[in-house]
Amino acid sequence: MARLPEHIAVIMDGNGRWAKEQGKMRVYGHQHGVDSVRRVTEACAELGVKYLTLYAFSTENWNRSSIEVNALMTLLTQALKSELKTLTDNNIRLAAIGDLARLPKTQYDALTEVIDATKNNTRMTLTLCLSYSGRWEITEAVRKIASKVKDGALTPEQIDESCICSHLATAGMPDPDLLVRTSGEERISNYLLWQIAYSELYFSKKYWPDFTKEDLYEAVINYQNRERRFGKTSEQLKK
Ligand code: IPE
Ligand code: IPE
Ligand code: MG
Repeated sequence: MARLPEHIAVIMDGNGRWAKEQGKMRVYGHQHGVDSVRRVTEACAELGVKYLTLYAFSTENWNRSSIEVNALMTLLTQALKSELKTLTDNNIRLAAIGDLARLPKTQYDALTEVIDATKNNTRMTLTLCLSYSGRWEITEAVRKIASKVKDGALTPEQIDESCICSHLATAGMPDPDLLVRTSGEERISNYLLWQIAYSELYFSKKYWPDFTKEDLYEAVINYQNRERRFGKTSEQLKK
């Protein structure tokens, strides 16, 4: 327990392939993906993980068919409604990062309602990345910083790593210790580009709807058996 990751980030991938393998529509996979979100959230809260950050919908995902996008949006509002009580009962705070202004109003309102209702919860922060991409986030941060420099509120010399961190959507959150991606794909897909600089990466072959609590434990145990050197040598760390 001493080596528990404080922050786990997940790229929930493989819903479509999971459904296709069963001769079903992609949406069927997304519906079952919601059950995995519930399981993994519960597992993380039980373990004592403080931050769980889920890639739910990327900037690039807007390019999918309108049928799929609409189905994902509907699932989002359904899940927000059905899970509010569980989040409240379990003292879990919901947060969201991404270009939320691009969400339809119904989804935006449902999201802000749950975020507001759970804002004082302290056990774990569950962050949904919606209409999110790492490059979008960095671009936004650069824009905010540039405008402060222009206004004279900041000098170029004051721009350091911590300044950049504090202008990202994840300001105040520790970087992910562990990044999990399901479905066998081994890429980052524009996720948390700045924040995963030193995260441990874990790739699971399982499709997201098949991902269980035990799979999450396996990822955590795998993480715990790694040596995070942060540029130092093994010998230095043992001293
Ligand atoms: C992940 O599953 C969910 C989202 C990206 C919204 P996919 O929908 O990407 O499923 P695959 O990768 O096509 O199997
Ligand atoms: C990444 O999955 C985005 C989410 C999990 C929400 P994708 O399935 O969209 O990623 P690529 O396009 O295959 O890399
Ligand atoms: Mg995918």
